[in-house]
Amino acid sequence: MQIDPANIWDKEALPSQGSNDMNANPKASAPDKIKVIGGNPLHGTIPISGAKNCALKLMCASLLTEGDMHFENSPNSLRDMKSQTELLEYLGCKITARGSSMTINAGGVNELTAPYDIVRKMRGSILVLGPLLARFGEARVSLPGGCAIGTRPVDMHIKALEEMGAEIVLDEGYINARAPQGGLQGAKILFPKVSVGATENLLMAATLAKGTTILANAAREPEIIDLGECLIKMGAKIEGLGTDTIRIEGVSSLNGANHSVVPDRIETGTYMVAAAMTGGSVRLQNARLEHLSAAVGHLAQTGVELDQDGQDIIISRETGLRLQGIDIMTEPHPGFPTDLQAQFMAMLAMCEGAGMVTETIFENRFMHVPELNRMGANITVHGHSAIVRGVSKLKGAEVMATDLRASVALVLAGLVAEGETTINRIYHLERGYEDIVGKLGGCGANIRKA
Ligand code: EPZ
Repeated sequence: MQIDPANIWDKEALPSQGSNDMNANPKASAPDKIKVIGGNPLHGTIPISGAKNCALKLMCASLLTEGDMHFENSPNSLRDMKSQTELLEYLGCKITARGSSMTINAGGVNELTAPYDIVRKMRGSILVLGPLLARFGEARVSLPGGCAIGTRPVDMHIKALEEMGAEIVLDEGYINARAPQGGLQGAKILFPKVSVGATENLLMAATLAKGTTILANAAREPEIIDLGECLIKMGAKIEGLGTDTIRIEGVSSLNGANHSVVPDRIETGTYMVAAAMTGGSVRLQNARLEHLSAAVGHLAQTGVELDQDGQDIIISRETGLRLQGIDIMTEPHPGFPTDLQAQFMAMLAMCEGAGMVTETIFENRFMHVPELNRMGANITVHGHSAIVRGVSKLKGAEVMATDLRASVALVLAGLVAEGETTINRIYHLERGYEDIVGKLGGCGANIRKA
């Protein structure tokens, strides 16, 4: 099948030739920088979008049924959502997206290959493997390769599908997978390490398998619970969501369903840190405090005040209060999320005293450190840990973002730095933050695209 150029929303995300950055942007026609002048405390309300890391998987779950899937609170304007749309349309899905609603129909899927050119833009596309294999008995998906934060293999996805009877051959950079005669077989799968993506791929695959599948040492992220709840609405039989043992009873077919995407806890945590760093008071609308217990506990230790009002979170810092340095260590949920590590490090850079940040999930997730140091931070990395010695002020500088969360950490630093900070390569931000300039600007930040 040829890709219809009219359906490709996001060609800019293609890497430039010879670049080792999978998301590098060869064209600079659209604004590709954000300029921030620091010093304004934030006051106001920020609406929280639906979770990117859930919506991308819900889109893949649509491949499991011929029925219509209708999503609300879907973060459709994100670049990653557009890449996933491009992939699903390539496979033959019909997709309509309007505002924060999305409808997907996978009744006409006629292509079972997820090609390199689309998969290389976004690792989340590996999540089509389980659903395609479960519904159609075969799939060919490009290996996603490494990315800026680490090598990120998919060996556990592959091994677990083999345990369900799939025959898998890696050839010319592709995963060629075929289910046994009669379809995937239920199995008891023990993941050697907690993996969000492997849990999700296998959860989806097992819904249409023959018999019972047990996923042990499964990931427990709120996004996985939300995916599972949507699968249950589609007719799947699942128990144990949110625990480390998930039990799935395979069914012969699934139906369409309506589902509202869970609020983005990483976006929520990011704006919590923004409010804490700048001072003032911010209401985060339609957030879920209970999904952020580890991050909230750490924030409270720094001296920030947090309140809950229904589904809203109000975060404020007393004028003149200097936040206290704390130690953090990233862990699978319910531990401290790796996707908030860079943002917390930006905050620690200006705290009283020192803090230690230990990254246990990804091997190379400190690329924001040299950039923060260019802004006057005092951070040294020792293996998987970084010592952050708080300084009294940061200074604006021209900085370069290497991945989504590193980029937003630089925006946060810019909000409190003296003078102007220019963050280059904002297409990273557009992969995961809807209208960040509008949301921060609406609360008084001096921020614009350039
Ligand atoms: C998801 O990635 C998220 N991405 C990441 O968010 C997040 O950082 C990560 O989970 C951890 O919370 C999406 O949901 C699209 P993993 P995923 O499998 O599923 C190793 C962001 O900024 N591993 O839980 O790819 C892996 O290398 C992004 O929004 C294997 O060794 O993460 C890592 O060290 C970045 N073999 C660890 O497990 C495998 O087969 C956890 O990765 C799979 C993973």
